[in-house]
Parts: sequence; C-alpha cells; structure tokens
Amino acid sequence: MATPSAWNKVSPPRPRLSGASFHREGTDLKASPGAPAPAGGSAAQFRGQARLPRFATPRRYELRLRPDLVACTFTGSVAIAVVVSAPTRFLVLNAADLSVNRASIRFQSLAPTEVVFFKDDDVLVFGFSKQLPLGEGVLQMDYNGTLNDQMRGFYRSKYQYKGKERNMAVTQFESVDARRCFPCWDEPAFKAKFKLTVEVPSDLVALSNMPVANSTFAGPIKTVSFRESPLMSTYLLAVVVGLFDYVEGMTSKGTRVRVYTQIGKSNQGKFALDVAVKSLDLYKDYFDTAYPLPKLDMIAIPDFSAGAMENYGLVTYREVALLFDDKSSSESSKQNIAITVAHELAHQWFGNLVTMEWWTHLWLNEGFATWMSHLAVDSFFPQWNIWTQFLDGTTTALKLDALSESHPIEVEIHHASEVDQIFDAISYEKGASVIRMLQSYLGAERFQKALASYMKKFAYSNAKTEDLWAVLEKETGEPVKDLMTTWTKQKGYPVINAKIKGNDMEIEQAQFLSDGSSGPGTWIVPITSGCGYDTQKKFLLKLKRDKMVIPSQCSDRKKGGNFWTKLNINGTGFYRVKYDDELAAALLNALEAKKLSLMDRIGVVDDSHALSMARQQTMASLLRLLYAYRGETDYSVLSHVNSVTVSVARISVDATPSLAGDIKQLLIKILLPTAEKLGWDPKKGESHLDAMLRPLLLTALVQLGHGKTINEGIRRFNIFLRDRNTPLLPPDTRKTAYLSVMQNVSSSNRSGYDALRKVYRESAEGEERLNVLGILPSCRDKGIVLESLNFIFTDEVRNQDAYILLRGVQIEAREIAWNWLKENWERISKIFSTSSLLGDFVKTVVPLFTSNEKAAEISKFFATRTKPGFERTLKQSLENIRIGARWIEGIRSEPKLAQTVRELLGKP
Ligand code: BES
Ligand code: ZN
Repeated sequence: MATPSAWNKVSPPRPRLSGASFHREGTDLKASPGAPAPAGGSAAQFRGQARLPRFATPRRYELRLRPDLVACTFTGSVAIAVVVSAPTRFLVLNAADLSVNRASIRFQSLAPTEVVFFKDDDVLVFGFSKQLPLGEGVLQMDYNGTLNDQMRGFYRSKYQYKGKERNMAVTQFESVDARRCFPCWDEPAFKAKFKLTVEVPSDLVALSNMPVANSTFAGPIKTVSFRESPLMSTYLLAVVVGLFDYVEGMTSKGTRVRVYTQIGKSNQGKFALDVAVKSLDLYKDYFDTAYPLPKLDMIAIPDFSAGAMENYGLVTYREVALLFDDKSSSESSKQNIAITVAHELAHQWFGNLVTMEWWTHLWLNEGFATWMSHLAVDSFFPQWNIWTQFLDGTTTALKLDALSESHPIEVEIHHASEVDQIFDAISYEKGASVIRMLQSYLGAERFQKALASYMKKFAYSNAKTEDLWAVLEKETGEPVKDLMTTWTKQKGYPVINAKIKGNDMEIEQAQFLSDGSSGPGTWIVPITSGCGYDTQKKFLLKLKRDKMVIPSQCSDRKKGGNFWTKLNINGTGFYRVKYDDELAAALLNALEAKKLSLMDRIGVVDDSHALSMARQQTMASLLRLLYAYRGETDYSVLSHVNSVTVSVARISVDATPSLAGDIKQLLIKILLPTAEKLGWDPKKGESHLDAMLRPLLLTALVQLGHGKTINEGIRRFNIFLRDRNTPLLPPDTRKTAYLSVMQNVSSSNRSGYDALRKVYRESAEGEERLNVLGILPSCRDKGIVLESLNFIFTDEVRNQDAYILLRGVQIEAREIAWNWLKENWERISKIFSTSSLLGDFVKTVVPLFTSNEKAAEISKFFATRTKPGFERTLKQSLENIRIGARWIEGIRSEPKLAQTVRELLGKP
C-alpha cells in the first residue's frame, strides 16, 4: 500500500529524542508566561514550567501527515509561522513520542545549534547561535511517530470489513496530546490557523475539521488537502482515515451535516443527525452567532477513550454514544445519544469559538456544554423532563464535593499531567449546576443575552472565568463576580440549617462534609423558599447566619397542621438543607400528601441520605423518609430513591448484618408496587420515562434478591436464548434478565454464565455487547469473578470497555477483585497507561470497602504506585472508605433502628 512520495523528506527513523540524549545542565530560571525571554541563558531554564513562554507564538501551521495503516506508523512535516515578539535565541514548544529529524529543523534559514528535549515536560527547546529576528518567521521540521494503541494523539482503531480486520487512523488531542502528532504550541491560548494535508490509500475516506480543498491521486495513494481553518486551539484539530458510509442533512442556514459510520451502518446515524441539525439551529439562535465552520461531520470510532470529543467541525464519538438502532438500542441509550450530541455541538461555540484561556478554566467548556445540552434536549424532547434528570448530575457533584479531597471548580494546574483528572464531576456537574443556579437567579432572558454578548466579545479568542462574570455583571447590573467567586474559587458547598423561631425562620450556613466535620467555607447563597410553589421567596444569604420572615400564608401553623416550607426550591441552588424537627416533620407530611414537585422530591431524599451518611441524622429517620416514597411513579425521583436504596442496602451488610435481610425486604416493599404496575412488558404508546423506569426498578429488585423478579428474568432469558427476537425480552429489559441469570451462577453451575458469554460473542458490537459485559462479574463465586475480570485482558474486550466490566463487581466479591487488581497491577498500568482509564480501576474497586484497616492497606499498596493522573481519584476513593467506616459506627449505635425497620415492615 503506502509508497514513499516526494514531499516526505524524513530520514530513516532515528532514536527518539529523550532527555538522556541531550544535555540538561544549567539552573532552572523561571520563565513565567509573558515574561521577556532572556537573550542568553541556557535551554535548561525551560524545564519544569507549567506553561510555555510567550516570546514566540504560532500563527499558522502547515501540516502534512502520512499514516501507514499497515505498519502503524506515520511521518509528518510541519511548517509553523511563528511571531517572535521579544528578543530571544530560543524557540520552545511541545512534542511527545515523536522522532524529530534533527537535520531538518530550520527557522528561516537558521539551523539550531542546540536541541534539548525535556521528556518529563514534553518540552522541546531549539537554541540558536544568535538572537532571532523579531517578527514572523517559519519554523520547519520533519519527524515520524507511531500510530499508537492508547487512544490518544494519533492512534489506530480496529474494525471489521468484509470479515477482515482493518485499521483506521484517528486523532484524540484533548487535553494535551496534539504534541503526540506534531510538534506544536500545545496550549489552548495559542490559537492558530491550520492548513492540513494528508497522504492516504486512495480507497479510504480522509476527514478533518475543514472540507476538502482538493484531492490528487497518484496510484494507490491520494493526497487530500483541506481548507485552511479559522483561528483555533491545537486540542481541537482532528483527522480520521478509514472506510465509512454516511447520512447527510442540512441546517436551516444551509450548513451541511454528516454522520459517518462503519460501512453498512449509516441508518444508525439518523437519530444523531436529526439531533445535530436541530442543535446547530438552536445554538445559532441562542448565542445569536452563526455556526463558525462550513460543515459539520460526526463520526463513530470503535476504539475511543472518552464518550465523545468536540473537535471543531469533526466530532468523534464512541459508537454507543452516536449510533441508534431501532431493534437493539434502549430508550436510555437514545437519551444518552441526544445529550452527547447536544453537548459536543454546544462546544462548537462554548469551547471552540470561545476557548478557555488555560485548563484552570476547563469548567467554562465542560460545565457550560453540560448545561447547554440539557437546554437543547429539553427543547427537542420536552416529554423527557430532562431538567429533572439534570439533578442526577447535581447530586453526583454534591457527593464528590462533600469530600475534603475535592477541588475548586477553578483549579490550579501546575503540569500537563494534571489536566486529565479535572475532567470530573466538579468541572462538569458542579460547573453545570452553578450555571443553573446563576441563571435562575438572573432570569433566563437576561442570562441568554449576556451569553450572546460574551460569545461575540471573545469569538476566535480565549476567556477566563472572570471575563464571563464581567460580561454578565455589565449586562445585568447584578454582583455576579462576588456571588460566583464563592462557588468557583473554593471547593465544597454549604448545608443550610433551618430552624423555626417564632414567626421567623433562622438560617445558618456551614460547609458540608461527608465525614461529619464542618469545613471553613462560606458562600453567597441564593436562598429560595416556599410553602407551595406560588409563595416563593428569594434572597442572597451573605452572612453566616440570617433570618427570614415566613410569608403569612405559610405562618398560620398554629391554626392547623398544614404548615410546611421547603428551602432550595427545585434544587436550583448547589447546597443542602437540614431542617429542625418541626420543619422536617412538616416536610414529610407535605411529601406524603404529594405536595412537593418532582425536583423537590429528589432534593429531600438526596439531602437526607447525605446527612445520614455524615451522621447528622439517623438511619432510622432516613428509612422512614424512604418509606414515604412507596408508590412513587416518576422515573427521575425513583432513580434517586434507588441510588439511596443501593447505598443503604450496601452499608447495612457491613453495619448490621443481622438486620440486612429485613432492610432489603423494606426496600423491596418501597419499590415493588410501581415495579408491579409496570411489569416486564412494554405497554403500547408508553412514555420514554416509563420505558426507562421499568429496567431501573426490575434491576433494583433483582439486586435486592427479590425471588419472583429473578425467576421471571431467568425465564425470559431462556426464551431469548432460543429466539433473539422474542418480544418478551426487548432491549430495555435485557440487562435485568442477564443480572437475574447471574444470581444463580457458580463454578459448579456455570451454564448461565456460559450462555451470557455466548450472547456476547454473537452480538454485533455496540450496546448489546456492553449490556452483557457489565453483568459478567456480578456474582460471588471466586472462579467466575476471576474469569470475568481476566476477560479484560483478551482480544474480545476493547480497552475502552474495561471499566464497564469492572462496574459489575458486587460488594460480596470485593476481596476477589482487590486481590486481582493488586496481582495484575503492573500489567494493567502498562495496558491502560492513559490516566483516566487507570483511574477507573481504582474508582470502581476501592470504594467497595468500608473499613479503616482496608483503607490503610490500599493506601500502602499505592504508596509506591501512584501516578499524577489518578492521584486525586485514589485519595477520594480512600476518603469514601473512611466515611463508610464512620457511618457504620453510627448505625451500630442507633438504639431504635431494628424497631423502626420492623415497624415499617409491619412486623410485630
Ligand atoms: N471534551 C470532552 C471529551 C474529553 C474528555 C476529552 C476527557 C479529553 C478528556 C467532551 O466534550 C465530553 O465532555 N465528552 C463527554 C460526553 C458528554 C455527553 C458529557 C464524555 O466523553 O464523557
Ligand atoms: Zn464536553
């Protein structure tokens, strides 16, 4: 296939540049961003810097790439127009895992006299014998690299075509991996224009951010050159080369949108295409700014480390995050696709057109895209109640942010290796939640207007968090900066303690931490309260303590028993509320009387769970509250109730083994009525939410050991084995049936497990397979658990999917999984060298434990094995263990727990 061609002047591969092969002496001078470059000094001054110096900045890249899809290598040549703005004899940029041909390096006609590579920092320094002329010059070099298997930089992904395995070449540059494809100024603020050319086998499709300008064919090779891009950041550049089909649509403004899939699967791209076309139209109106590029392509990639990536004009996705198949995809996967597409397309404005100035402001990208995706999906599918589902994210963030090992939304980044781990619930979900809080404080219309002017002001450029506050403040006249700084620059959040004092309500804020302690933080808190939804009050709590007058409608409590009040109406604020006994009892009555909105039903149960875990409230009172949710029929509310029941069932196994059975019975009693109403079979014309609720409840019942549900799952699975198209087991409930099957599996009775492996093997890729994968280790039998964990190391499981399997490990199998993880750590850390995937191993196994001794053991094991990429994840997981241990102590000392459980179960 690929034959050498004229442009390629790269000499035979040389040993990789490495720190060891160049001199590194000299002292570390601090060259902070923006500081003028010293004319002299040595290259060593550029080691260990968080950011590149700014005395020379790129304007335009001309990049040629020539991937060899058989040898899995590539060659490249780059010409970078650089502006030298201060006297220097150095050029300092990023590179990683590339061999640069030293003889090819030129700046104008100058060859460097010194080439130093700081491997730990991915920094490449060219030193010249004299000062560089001020103004624009061109830096040129040739290099080569490997199409790696790590799903980052320029990598290869595998797919099947006509029964044969083929390779495709794909890029994934966010956060700091463009440098693995070409030497560049790999920071978001160094925006430049890109003119890309690729040489690829003639029969393949080559895609990039911009449309093709022209293609020329020379035998088996074609040269495809793309149009020059507008100013953009390096992490958004993308190239994909392989065999694809597509479906196409058009926005109302005439922007061409395509969804590329593997050959023969283009039908599965139609749903995402529809969402994409609508999203582009919606965002254009919302931001009052046109989609900035001439086309948008979206493409499914078989090996993909994230869920999706917003590359400018060429958005890449995991297959399950883009492809929808009427026959085999579930309702929840449909929703996931809609949210993912809407999220990535929001980035085309928030992120791509206006980009964060540095990774500290990552949340401006991810928090906003998360929030915007809900806004868009709510407008396309109002019946999905997506804003109620949004609280899933808020509560996830509230849980993470109640750890002392959390971090502020705006987080300092000292080194590139720290960036990956801030793609977490703080940047995404807390970010999105504080945006919702701010929007609800300012009002939707004012908020939108201000965002549109922010977009215009910073288009094709970069912004910091404070730039956004300044625009919002100017447009609305509200103290946005003071308010929001308390939420973005300090970690954590408050719990508001509410007490009745005469006709007033006293409120006091204190930082909430799950370990029961109280942190030092204080916030400016937008308080809302009401007794019913037409009596809302709003004000900003700026002090530690304040008083609210209870509206007269609410204060007639002496006259009758109907008084109640709820703070943080609809959970728009990022805080929790703890009520005094009188308020709590009144709220419970209101809940029983069905007076609370969906969102408030979620807030009440989630706060109560968190307070119980922090031992600010008893387990008995949590169970009483949960009991008030029996008969609840809403998907979102029950999904939160279910998370709480899972947590309660888990902790009771360790805390009160003798009571664990009864607690499970109680939880079953709460969930069963609605599960029975829904049954296993979809009803004609039923809602999206009911279709998602069914598997949620049935799965919960199976997990709680409900015999009847388990047997029905097994019965339906056996029918499914004989007839894969049986209406008795449609996509939505398959996972529940698989889980039922695993309940009876053991080494001596492994037929169910073997049948599931067979289903895995025989399913096409996609959701179908992943459903099985997530279930395989879900049993207590050591042999089976180990066999399924080792499945990760086989060719049958893509590395991208390992975490799905890990998530299936049950609490009863935690020792087996932990021993397996220890024994295989070296191997795992080699294969999953990208930090986020490695973090998944820690995140899924470690928090299954609840004893301080185990925390100490795990901490000791990792003492010599941590990497910057998952350090924080590990600390958070260990903190969660200790919180569990403390919770257990509290539960054990509760005198009335057993009595409460019996009472609620109706047992004498
Ligand atoms: N920018 C991210 C992709 C990403 C994540 C790149 C982590 C590098 C590191 C993208 O916009 C994103 O957020 N994707 C989400 C999906 C989304 C629907 C929340 C993901 O990958 O999970
Ligand atoms: Zn994103």
